[in-house]
Amino acid sequence: MGRKICIVSGKGGVGKTTITCGLGLALAKNGNSVCLIDLDVGLNNLDVMLNLENKVVYDLGDCLSGKCRLKQALVNLPESENLYLLPSARSPVGITRVDIKKITDKLAGVFDYVLLDAPAGLNENFELALYGANEALVVVTPHVASLRDADKVISRVKGSHIEKTEVVVNRIRGDMVARGEMLGHEQLEKLLKTPLAGVIPESDKINLYSSFRFERIQKSKDVLAFTVLAHNLKTDKKVILDYDSKYRGLLGLIRRNIKRSI
Ligand SMILES: Nc1ncnc2c1ncn2[C@@H]1O[C@H](COP(=O)(O)OP(=O)(O)O)[C@@H](O)[C@H]1O
Ligand SMILES: [Mg+2]
Repeated sequence: MGRKICIVSGKGGVGKTTITCGLGLALAKNGNSVCLIDLDVGLNNLDVMLNLENKVVYDLGDCLSGKCRLKQALVNLPESENLYLLPSARSPVGITRVDIKKITDKLAGVFDYVLLDAPAGLNENFELALYGANEALVVVTPHVASLRDADKVISRVKGSHIEKTEVVVNRIRGDMVARGEMLGHEQLEKLLKTPLAGVIPESDKINLYSSFRFERIQKSKDVLAFTVLAHNLKTDKKVILDYDSKYRGLLGLIRRNIKRSI
């Protein structure tokens, strides 16, 4: 049976969809079969980010209404034979918790990983994502609003049936952490009282690729952050990507100042 992991957050725009794509691609590249489910109903972020928009024929709503079989709605990423997407329902449909559990159980029978990209906030669609999973990755950015909302989400997740809850810190900036202007990963872990699964640095390339063709990120060195995250999930080891050492020491001081002035 494959693992069912929901990617959730309190605040919107913190990088759930970006991390679902990056993690999915990294796991698939390592030989795992992966299915991404877009639960941001009506917004269709995952197919846009993965440049699969034109390949979508059926979606989650069509599966539930019986218009198609689950297999027919899955879209394969041309660049990765191991990675599939179940697109979100394009129009609002009454998805129940039983529906989502049935679908994710079926997919976990076939795929090594089922990743559910949740909408932001503690609403019914968030509950659907929880219900379809047995593990959760809570995405936070090192900013006050995100951390406050993450705290609420972590409490809700820990009070549910979810067996394993971990945090992914996104958009961390090594130069700011080194200057003491942003909390580092150890402080964040303590503050949220939840183990970290990994960190993803702030990166123009990640922003650029997730705005255009996300699969191209495989050719960038920023892919390393997702590879490390995938490795941590798979092995249960906690390797934290080195995001700040180049900003420490004398050379680091120069780099920090250059970064500050641009
Ligand atoms: N590590 C990062 N570095 C730079 N930009 C990022 C990073 N992670 C996400 N973004 C950008 O932030 C925006 C919101 O990300 P998205 O994944 O859509 O968030 P969510 O799914 O939580 O709403 C996107 O424009 C994305 O490119
Ligand atoms: Mg999203």
